[in-house]
Amino acid sequence: MPSSTFLLIRELAELESAFRAEVASLATEQEIRAAQARYLGKKGRVSELMKQMGRLPAEERPQVGEVANRTKNGIEAETERRLCELRELARKQDLERQVDVTLPGRCEPVGHLHILTKVRREIVAIFAELGFEVAFGPQVETDFHNFEALGIPKDHPARDMQDTFYVADDVVLRTHTSPVQIRTMLSKAPPVKIVAPGAVYRKDDDPTHSPMFQQIEGLLVDEDVRMSDLKGVLLHFVRRFFGRDLGIRFRPSYFPFVEPGAEVDMQCTFCGGRGAGCRVCKGTGFLEIGGAGMVDPVVLKQVNYDAEKFNGFAFGMGIERMAMLRHGINDIKLFYEGNLRFLEQF
Ligand code: FA5
Repeated sequence: MPSSTFLLIRELAELESAFRAEVASLATEQEIRAAQARYLGKKGRVSELMKQMGRLPAEERPQVGEVANRTKNGIEAETERRLCELRELARKQDLERQVDVTLPGRCEPVGHLHILTKVRREIVAIFAELGFEVAFGPQVETDFHNFEALGIPKDHPARDMQDTFYVADDVVLRTHTSPVQIRTMLSKAPPVKIVAPGAVYRKDDDPTHSPMFQQIEGLLVDEDVRMSDLKGVLLHFVRRFFGRDLGIRFRPSYFPFVEPGAEVDMQCTFCGGRGAGCRVCKGTGFLEIGGAGMVDPVVLKQVNYDAEKFNGFAFGMGIERMAMLRHGINDIKLFYEGNLRFLEQF
């Protein structure tokens, strides 16, 4: 036998023991499979040696082929044996692991509703107890519903009160929930008794004003509705929501869709209405919570209600403002930043 054939056979035979030595120290299936590929893969060590077979005399090739096959089989068998060994070891370790059944179970962290969602639902529930139904309207609103029908024509100075995001010429992100008044009255004959919570948008940005915030609108239209009804409903709401005997007051104000109109103030939750030296109400004893008034007959006529027979009241309050007052929060941004250390407190 020529020495090149002999050498090739010896090298092939040695590969098997080299492989065995290599995988003996490997501890994962991934590593063992990678080692197997280094020997048996297309460019593996066995294939490299087999390429030399072409140079051997034809009659000696079968003998080399046989050794190569034995080497391949040996490497495959060794791979399987090592993998089996690893699986067995893992199973044994699993069985030996001690389980302390007296340990308390691990608790998964449980999420909860956002504080603003809770406050909104609570506010809605208080009005629902008084018989108000819940209505919704779109956040992308027509100029007609957001302004025109509420007595705010295009050139009206009242438009300056609410800095508006325009989507198109006659389409806005609603600046308040008051357009839901119009949508409700256009779709339903009186009497009407609704609250409409939801997001609204204005170009506002400071610690107590956000470009997106939430309001809750109230509308009651019936026969013989009085301003004292409005005041009674809001007083009841404030006392239920804050759980204290706080007073409210109406300050004359102007909204084009109510007449008379008022800003609604409640006694300061921090100083209890004393005022003097209070930083929160700046010494006034009162905090503004929204706007309100008697529905202007012009609005009732817009929606084809009989303004001789029916009248009503409306109000609109900021939901963030309510949550800030109740929980002593001084920056509106805290609601939206998603900081768990803040949110988990509620
Ligand atoms: C209005 O939006 C009227 N639509 C309310 C109304 C309804 C009056 C029905 C009469 C009848 P005003 O712009 O004042 O009113 O807003 C109402 C409340 O929303 C404010 O008192 C305040 O609590 C809250 N608010 C206003 N702007 C912001 C803002 N940028 N961020 C957070 N809260 C705000």
